Amino acid sequence: MRRAFGSFITGVTVVTAFDGEGRPRGFTANSFSSVSLRPPLVSVCVANSALGFKAFRAAKSFAVNVLGEEQRELSAKFATRSADKFDGAEWRAEKDGAPLLAGAVAWFDCAAKRGMPCGDHRILIGEVLRFCAGEGAPLGYLRGAYIRPSLERRAAEAAGDARGVVGAIVEREDSVYLCESENGGGLSLPFVSGGAEGVAELRKFLRARGLECGFSFLYSVYAREGGGTVIVYRAHWKSGRAKRGGFYPLAALPSSRIGDAAVRSLLQRFAREHESGDHPLYVGDEIGGEVHSLRIAR
Ligand SMILES: Cc1cc2nc3c(=O)[nH]c(=O)nc-3n(C[C@H](O)[C@H](O)[C@H](O)COP(=O)(O)O)c2cc1C
Repeated sequence: MRRAFGSFITGVTVVTAFDGEGRPRGFTANSFSSVSLRPPLVSVCVANSALGFKAFRAAKSFAVNVLGEEQRELSAKFATRSADKFDGAEWRAEKDGAPLLAGAVAWFDCAAKRGMPCGDHRILIGEVLRFCAGEGAPLGYLRGAYIRPSLERRAAEAAGDARGVVGAIVEREDSVYLCESENGGGLSLPFVSGGAEGVAELRKFLRARGLECGFSFLYSVYAREGGGTVIVYRAHWKSGRAKRGGFYPLAALPSSRIGDAAVRSLLQRFAREHESGDHPLYVGDEIGGEVHSLRIAR
């Protein structure tokens, strides 16, 4: 059921309020939803087990900050269980409003209208008093991982780039596939020449190395030194034994053997996200025990 819930693509928000002592509190939430235009209402669900639960149950106002593509680290920070996540975060508040985070692509400052206990969460309904709609690209969340929709557009633009390359981070549990790079630069991700058939070529390349893989979404698109665009997808190992390369644990990447500095830093970032931000799919933290008693439709 977690996987099924997680197939629904959402944005990522940080919901904020002041607690009884006037301290700013917040948590990452993707359960945000717009509810009504007249009157303007929104909803969000807070877990009964959240450290900030009492503060959010009592708050007269709360704000929903919609995060931008570059705010993954902020999302990860506000998804930790702690009372002082605002240290180092830039924020302000309107009179009688809730904390508004700098850099959010949109925000809704709300008066708390209703709260309803519902299973292991509480549904908060807010009436929008003020809002801001910015221009930036919003961050997305799908199947337990962050996605950046604007990458799709940049990748589509780069698809005809003959000087470009297409690569993949192939995951198997907590490890990634690395192979000897063509130009003798040590280990690298699997890459093939770009162009419209890039992904099909990459699939063939991996098959020749014994790996059957499923491709999911884009992870990175960047300009290569010397020209051309590098497009990197996320992929997962399905079957097969790796030839001419192998799987390396993300927690102990052989960084000194990865010759290409851009690939090295991309993998280091991926490993960091895997450790901190790549939460197991979020559908509420206490649901695990109940799933066993459900009949799963086949
Ligand atoms: C992408 C994402 C979405 C989340 N959505 C929610 C949510 O809608 N409601 C919720 O209560 N927790 C959600 N969480 C988990 C909370 O952010 C997390 O439990 C946090 O520790 C709560 O903060 P607190 O315990 O300090 O109050 C989400 C986490 C992530 C990474």
